[in-house]
Amino acid sequence: MLLQASAIKAGYGPTLIVDDVSLRIEPGEIVCVLGRNGMGKTTLLKSLLGLIKRTGGTVQIAGRAVDGWPAHRIARLGVGYAPQERAVFHELTVGDNLRLCLSRGVDGSALASVLDTFPVLAGKLGQQAGSLSGGEQKILVLAEAILGSPGLVVLDEVVEGVQPSIVNRFIEVIRTVNQRSGSAFLIVEQNIGFALKLASRFLVMKGGRIVDEGPTQEGTRTAVERHFIL
Ligand SMILES: Nc1ncnc2c1ncn2[C@@H]1O[C@H](COP(=O)(O)OP(=O)(O)OP(=O)(O)O)[C@@H](O)[C@H]1O
Ligand SMILES: [Mg+2]
Repeated sequence: MLLQASAIKAGYGPTLIVDDVSLRIEPGEIVCVLGRNGMGKTTLLKSLLGLIKRTGGTVQIAGRAVDGWPAHRIARLGVGYAPQERAVFHELTVGDNLRLCLSRGVDGSALASVLDTFPVLAGKLGQQAGSLSGGEQKILVLAEAILGSPGLVVLDEVVEGVQPSIVNRFIEVIRTVNQRSGSAFLIVEQNIGFALKLASRFLVMKGGRIVDEGPTQEGTRTAVERHFIL
């Protein structure tokens, strides 16, 4: 098992947001977590990655119990993360944003490979990341997450605000990284079509809990969409 999370509870101050969520990911597997706004998806990811404190449950990643570990130590186990809020360093150039990832043990050839994948970034290496368009920032955030093909890549609404042709490109890139390097993906999405094209297993979150889960198959989309109706 690459990731095993059991009975996770997390929230902000006294407010419990994620309540008793369990999740497992096998090496090389693509799993998606779907759910409407405010259902606790981002909070779940942050609690798995050591970015907010859990109030209950346990997490194992790559065979290590990571409870209490800071986020940078978890990242060094081989976890790439694309945060929802386009967390790029605005004042730094595109090139420097990418080079910062070298500190998590990624080498120069990985950088060359990601620039090959996203030529739009290669053409803007000297531009301040904060001046990239919204969609270009999403490309940068995805590029950073897959840099070095980590064992686990966590994507939080990576296609939000991205035009359809680039969404299709993201699908190709994610499939290629998954198939060539065996990276597993945990994909959190509102875009059900995008997520279900990639994932072999889905979970639906509602009110901080998992209300539905299973393998993706014919009929999954209709079943999932039912959970999105208010
Ligand atoms: N820093 C915070 N402090 C207090 N409450 C927060 C904080 N961040 C999120 N919340 C609350 O936690 C709940 C879940 O938010 P979360 O961001 O996890 O949802 P989400 O499922 O990712 O939604 P979206 O699809 O809109 O990204 C929301 O009610 C939100 O207002
Ligand atoms: Mg979110």
